[in-house]
Amino acid sequence: MILKSLTLRNFKSYASETFSFHDRFNLILGENAQGKTNLLEAIHFLLAFRPFKQLRTEEIIRFGSSECGLKGEILSHMGFDEVHILLNEDHKTLKLNSKIVYHTSKVYGRYNIVSFLPTDLELIKGGPQGRRRYIDALICALEGAHLRDLKLYHRALTQRNAILAKTSAITSDKIEVWDEKLAEVGSQVISRRLEFISKIKPQLNKIYKLTSGLDQDIQIHYKSSIDLEGNLEQSFKDMLRLKFEIDKKRFHTTVGPHRDQISFSIAGKDSAVYASQGEAKNLALSLKTSEIEMIKQFLGRTPILLLDDVTSELDGQRKKFLFKFLEDFPGQIFITTTDIKEILYKGEIRVFHIIDKKVRQKHILT
Ligand SMILES: Nc1ncnc2c1ncn2[C@@H]1O[C@H](COP(=O)(O)OP(=O)(O)OP(=O)(O)O)[C@@H](O)[C@H]1O
Ligand SMILES: [Mg+2]
Repeated sequence: MILKSLTLRNFKSYASETFSFHDRFNLILGENAQGKTNLLEAIHFLLAFRPFKQLRTEEIIRFGSSECGLKGEILSHMGFDEVHILLNEDHKTLKLNSKIVYHTSKVYGRYNIVSFLPTDLELIKGGPQGRRRYIDALICALEGAHLRDLKLYHRALTQRNAILAKTSAITSDKIEVWDEKLAEVGSQVISRRLEFISKIKPQLNKIYKLTSGLDQDIQIHYKSSIDLEGNLEQSFKDMLRLKFEIDKKRFHTTVGPHRDQISFSIAGKDSAVYASQGEAKNLALSLKTSEIEMIKQFLGRTPILLLDDVTSELDGQRKKFLFKFLEDFPGQIFITTTDIKEILYKGEIRVFHIIDKKVRQKHILT
């Protein structure tokens, strides 16, 4: 899959700009606050139909403008696509090959991207919600049914919580129908998470060992108040019944996949607590690299890679491994840096040098 070109209009710091990208290696070079990350954000928005993280519309639209637009030409396993996104204060319009797409979920996962961001460290050191979201987003990109089940689950959860919040004088039969629904789709959500974790774990171990040069075991733990050994749907239902009195007192549902905890450990030690900055960064990089492998295994596709300022904080060995990996990677790459000397890639590079927020393109051979 290749992003051939991108036109931005009033997107963040960009007034109007068109990029024609290299099929392999694109370097976005510039001092701080020039719009390097904004460009990656635009690429992500175009291909994933959403920004890196939840942003309000006014944060995306250029200051002083009332709407923004992105247009991209993409060569994918589906053929040649033209994607158009138009965003104004109260509406987002997505067009695929000139036809309006009314439900983004219909095209979700059409393109595959893996992004390496400075904030990835939070996946290792931050709270459990970030890891849950990350794993779910990954599974959604691989299996459309997961997105559908997550939506159904959250709809049922909202309904159950609304009943619990209304009065403490309710009886369990009033929420039984929602218990059934939560158990039915929630057990699917948990089961897919467990399956995904068991598949990514060997990959993650292999890459972590290779990059760190250390023979340390990496584990991914899934902690749930539901018994994971037996019939998940039945165990979930039993647990909802068991916790009903507590849920009534707290006015919300206290068990289920929305509360389950995912954690990593290096050599038996919880990474959120014990991993050093370098260890956490390497584990995050290994996780993202495993993500590429999972996309290849599940879908037989090569994703586009977005790497934002990844070289800072990596030591010499890890930097070398990263660029060797990128040289061998068969797909398209976008990488940002403030210092071209950090880029150890051997081959043809298209450089987009941003100076005073203006872009100059040139080719170089390294
Ligand atoms: N909605 C917006 N409208 C106009 N400018 C914006 C908007 N959102 C962000 N900016 C500007 O974009 C600039 C930051 O861009 P970006 O984060 O892409 O920089 P960068 O080149 O990645 O810098 P760094 O090297 O520090 O990471 C800031 O100057 C910010 O004010
Ligand atoms: Mg940046």
